Parts: sequence; structure tokens; C-alpha cells
Amino acid sequence: MAGFADFETEIYLAGLAGRTPDLPITADGLQRAAAKVMSPAVYDYVAGSAGTESTARANRAAFQKWEIVPRHLRGVSERDLSVDLLGTTIPAPVLLAPVGALGAVWPQAELEVARAAAGLGVPMTLSTLSSTTMEDVAAELGRDRSTPRRSEAPGDAARGARGIGWFQLYWPTDRDITQSLVQRAERAGFQALVLTLDTWALSWRPRDLANGYLPFHTGEGLANYFSDPAFRSRLATSPEEDPATAVQLWSQIFGNPLLRWSDLAWLRDQTRLPILVKGICHPDDARAALDVGVDGLIVSNHGGRQIDGARGALDCLPDVVAASGGLPVLFDSGIRTGSDVVKALALGAGAVLLGRPYVFGLALGGSRGVLHALRCLLAELDLTVALSGHAGVASLTRDLLVRSRNWDQCAS
Ligand code: FNR
Repeated sequence: MAGFADFETEIYLAGLAGRTPDLPITADGLQRAAAKVMSPAVYDYVAGSAGTESTARANRAAFQKWEIVPRHLRGVSERDLSVDLLGTTIPAPVLLAPVGALGAVWPQAELEVARAAAGLGVPMTLSTLSSTTMEDVAAELGRDRSTPRRSEAPGDAARGARGIGWFQLYWPTDRDITQSLVQRAERAGFQALVLTLDTWALSWRPRDLANGYLPFHTGEGLANYFSDPAFRSRLATSPEEDPATAVQLWSQIFGNPLLRWSDLAWLRDQTRLPILVKGICHPDDARAALDVGVDGLIVSNHGGRQIDGARGALDCLPDVVAASGGLPVLFDSGIRTGSDVVKALALGAGAVLLGRPYVFGLALGGSRGVLHALRCLLAELDLTVALSGHAGVASLTRDLLVRSRNWDQCAS
């Protein structure tokens, strides 16, 4: 039973009592408000994309090419938005995307994100580039939430459940460090491994270049490396004593341009966790992933952050789904509203990952801001599903959508 739409009632009831939300309702509103409170360089790091940022625009335009055709009088008062993902039931087809260096946005950021995600039962994908170690984030996710802490916002402890964590892997050039990161993630209790394929090098990002700013260069986002025994064994002095040398080592081992599909067999041997590959845009890559035995695909162009002039991610989704051989296909890049989620699901995604909007929520209020961003998205999703004539997500199929007659005019 979803109940996410109750957030709408809660807001209107508070309005009757003279209280309006102190955080913006829309993703655009969250971004505009966050821009006013974040340091300009950190804001640009989060908001920016590759080159002229045309791919980020294409990601948004791709949603306008599809229109929802609602159906009525179908008895949708009882709704269940839950989906089964790799053997786990989650309350809605939404996860948090991995975002690195969140410590630049908010103190102890990943713990705040974990708290918000766990309170709603939304899985959190932790980046390799987190500012808090994976063990500490796993401990926060694993905390029993049956008794809400006094500091928690309403709704935080709604499910009395422990949080679900997935670990996102950037595969370094050093196999011992890779093995150590993967084994730590499994030991810590993460339930899946998300291997990101599209960022073995950082793209040309004019905003960050103009600011001369990359969080990692001051050690931000490197907690998993600095705490890693294999990484530390490569250093003559510890990262605590000599952070500059540790950052230098990180920059040497971070990205691995040598990897091939055949290397996935080695990764498969390192862990019992399901492996998803993130960054799939071409159906042939979906087939290659299928051949090497991964457990799921994530269609993504990294929110437009890696290649300028690339195809909108949603435009890539149907062909990847057709080539996926029945593997779960997840989607991210450009999700901003409930109707975006509905369109991605109708085009074959099993679930979506939310990126920048939750980071802007974080910048505005830590855990409370992330929770707010998620509750807005989930309420809008719940209402859009229902008002389109559906009581769950399984029936959201391609026939819910038509191609917009104006689609060739949609700016991309
Ligand atoms: C990211 N993303 C990302 N992905 C990943 O696999 N590992 C990472 O460490 C990061 N780091 C990161 C930092 C920042 C600031 C952003 C905005 C994004 C990409 C992320 O997981 C996701 O693919 C996109 O954010 C989805 O696009 P939207 O929702 O932001 O448009």
C-alpha cells in the first residue's frame, strides 16, 4: 500500500493552519533555492554537465517526446507502487543514484542521505567516491528505525525498517584495491554492486574548469580509498600524515581505460552480490553485458556529465530494453517529476534512480531536504499513476504513451 499521495493532503492541511512548505516543491525550485545557499563552485560541480551541456538538455527533452494518455473509472483507490528488484521488494520504483563527494554539499552528507532513504524504504546507491566510509554508511542504513529518534522529521521512521544500500564501484587500475573495495562492500551489507562504465576519465566540464575546482583534489570524496587497507599499503606514509600524496595516488589509480567486457568474469568471481552495469546506452552493450552474466542494466548517460552532444537517455531506453533478454533495466538521467518516472516505466524501466534533485534537497536541509525531495517525487508519482488509471506499476506499459505530435520540435 503506497500512501505516498498522503503528502499532498498533509501539505494542504498545514496550509489551512497557515503553514506553507519551507522547502520548494519542484525539482527546479529545489535547484534554484540550492543555488542561493551553496558555494558557487560546489553548485556548479553538481549542476554542471559536459561541454555545452546539450546532453543534459536532451535528457529533459526526451521526456517531452512522449505523452501520457490517461484511462478512467478503473478503481484505483487502493494502490501499490512496490516492485521486486533482484529479490527485494521496495515500496516504489525509485532509488537514489550514486553521487560522489557529497561532503562538499553538507556535513556527514551520506549519513544524512542514508537516514532519509531508509526512512522511506528507498534504496540508496553509495558512490565509491563518498565522503564517509562505506562501513559507516552501511551502519546508518542498518540502524533499527522502529523507534524514531527525536531529531527525525515526520515520516522518517515510517516503515520501521532498515535501509537498503547498493554500492557503486569505480573500478581502479589496481586489482588488489578493486578486490578490497568489493569485498568490503559485501561484508558491510550492501546488497548489490553497481559498476559504472562511463566514467573511467572525467569529461571536459567547462564550469568546473572555469572554477578550477574538483572536490577530490582536496581529498573530498576519497574516504573509501583512504580507509582501504590495499590502498594504504601502496603508500609509504598514511593519508592522515600526507594527504597530498594519497590524493596523487588516487588520481593515478582511479580510472581504468584498459577494461574490457571479458574482465567482468573476474569481478563476478570476487563477489556473490548481484552486479548491475550503469551507463548502458547502446543495445549492443546491453547484449555484451547479458553475455558476461551481469544481473541488471542501468540506462544512463551520467546525467549528461560525460559526453556533450549525446543522445537523451530516455531515447536510448526502448532499444536497450529490447536487447536486455529480460534482465532488469533501470534508468536514470533527467528524472525530475512523477510523470517522468511513469514514462520511463512505461518504456520498460523496472525502476529509476534520482540524481541531482536529492542533492539540492540535501544542500537545503540535510536529511530533511532529501526526505522532502523524495516525498514530493513519490507523491507526484503516486498521483500520476492513479490519475492515469493504474493501481500499480506493473500495468504501466508502452500503450500508456503516445509519441508527441510535436516531438520533432522538442528542443534537444
Ligand atoms: C553523479 N553521478 C555519479 N554516478 C556514479 O556512478 N558515481 C558517482 O560517483 C557519481 N557522482 C556524481 C556526482 C554528481 C554531482 C552528479 C550530479 C552525478 C551520476 C548519477 O549517478 C546519475 O547518473 C545522474 O545524476 C542522473 O542524472 P540526473 O538525475 O542528475 O539528471
